[in-house]
Amino acid sequence: MKVDILLGLQWGDEGKGKVVDVLTPRYDVVARFQGGPNAGHTLEFEGQKYVLRSIPSGIFQGDKVNIIGNGVVLDPALFKAEAEALEASGHNLKERLHISKKAHLILPTHRILDAAYEAAKGDAKVGTTGKGIGPTYTDKVSRNGVRVGDILHDFDKKYAAAKARHEQILKSLNYEYDLTELEKAWLEGIDYLKQFKFVDSEHEINGLLSDGKSVLCEGAQGTMLDVDFGSYPFVTSSNTICAGACTGLGIAPNKIGEVYGIFKAYCTRVGAGPFPTELFDKTGDQICTLGHEFGSVTGRKRRCGWIDLVALKYAIMVDGVTKLIMMKSDVLDTFETIKACVAYKVNGEEIDYFPFDIEGVEPVYVELPGWQTDMTKMQSEDEFPEEFNAYLSFLEEQLGVPVKIVSVGPDRGQTIERYTEE
Ligand code: GDP
Ligand code: IMO
Ligand code: MG
Repeated sequence: MKVDILLGLQWGDEGKGKVVDVLTPRYDVVARFQGGPNAGHTLEFEGQKYVLRSIPSGIFQGDKVNIIGNGVVLDPALFKAEAEALEASGHNLKERLHISKKAHLILPTHRILDAAYEAAKGDAKVGTTGKGIGPTYTDKVSRNGVRVGDILHDFDKKYAAAKARHEQILKSLNYEYDLTELEKAWLEGIDYLKQFKFVDSEHEINGLLSDGKSVLCEGAQGTMLDVDFGSYPFVTSSNTICAGACTGLGIAPNKIGEVYGIFKAYCTRVGAGPFPTELFDKTGDQICTLGHEFGSVTGRKRRCGWIDLVALKYAIMVDGVTKLIMMKSDVLDTFETIKACVAYKVNGEEIDYFPFDIEGVEPVYVELPGWQTDMTKMQSEDEFPEEFNAYLSFLEEQLGVPVKIVSVGPDRGQTIERYTEE
């Protein structure tokens, strides 16, 4: 069997959690391969709403195995809070949530370092989620990290060494902090973590594939936040692209099957950094209000704008997307017209490719008629209004990949598959 991968194509929060939950019944295993509690993946069903940070979004569908891969960074304190809340609402995790021994631990001092580095950057700050993501991946790459498997071997020594190193750095930055509460919760998290099954996820996943089992990989963040291909330096610290699933789980590239690329019918961004189609007017506010665009982790207001097809085409290229999924279509229901950015203007010249630097590029738009229909009640693609179909056809023509799923509301049930010929 091959593994399928589901990825965000924009700046995150495209609706990955919702769709992974919807697709999970078709798979045996769901796995996260990068990121950590900077993610906030929202799922809604049976009138309940859940936000997952480190736990894969396949956890609510039957008895599927969910894996936290080696590419993920895990904060034991936040993991404990997340897992306990799920268990309190009746979802048993211990047997079917497996954690890679090679996943790196976010230490309490990583979180403090995240804040200290942001403070030191002043106006140039990234606007991180403050969860210690950058410092943890930095330690991983500089060969100073502490891994989940270390909990079972010489842990106290390894933790003390990493903590001492971090304290030195914080001292050199003159950064004041109090570790007491954070560390207490973190050590309780370490104890809690020991109840879970630590695995070699590369062996587990490849073994499952050999046994004919199917795997869905769940991306976090989005392609525009990728550390190599995103809007650097305003990015996260992991490879959010398709290739990240290979390194973050131990899957060979020739094992990849479908790549689902997920995007909103418009575009949002949280934190700092360039955003060519950002709207600073009433329309931007309207999208924000109608789409409830507030961060699920930090509660920050998300910046809103029109869909950016230049950036989307780029994302589709680096990810090798085979199927597109359009989210939050209903948010644009009331608009008379809808804009889509098809090119950028750089120093007066029009370009249709994603350049080295997108700071200051001007979007070139085409304007399409809105559908002005309540999409939230749609049951099948046969009910789609003409203008909505025209919008989909326009996107498919521009992007060269079929839109196979359309989401028309936050609930699990508000998801429509399209059976159009490829
Ligand atoms: P993720 O990080 O990609 O999983 O996305 P988030 O959960 O951070 O943000 C997506 C938000 O949009 C969540 O609040 C979802 O409940 C909501 N959502 C998902 N799909 C739809 C949709 O089709 N329409 C509307 N109105 N909301 C949606
Ligand atoms: P999901 O999985 C949206 C952004 C932060 C910041 C930058 C770096 O829910 O789509 P970090 O804490 O990772 O060092 O922050 O990346 N960011 C996200 N934006 N959705 C996310 O995750 C994000 N995870 C990180 O706002 O700009
Ligand atoms: Mg999110």
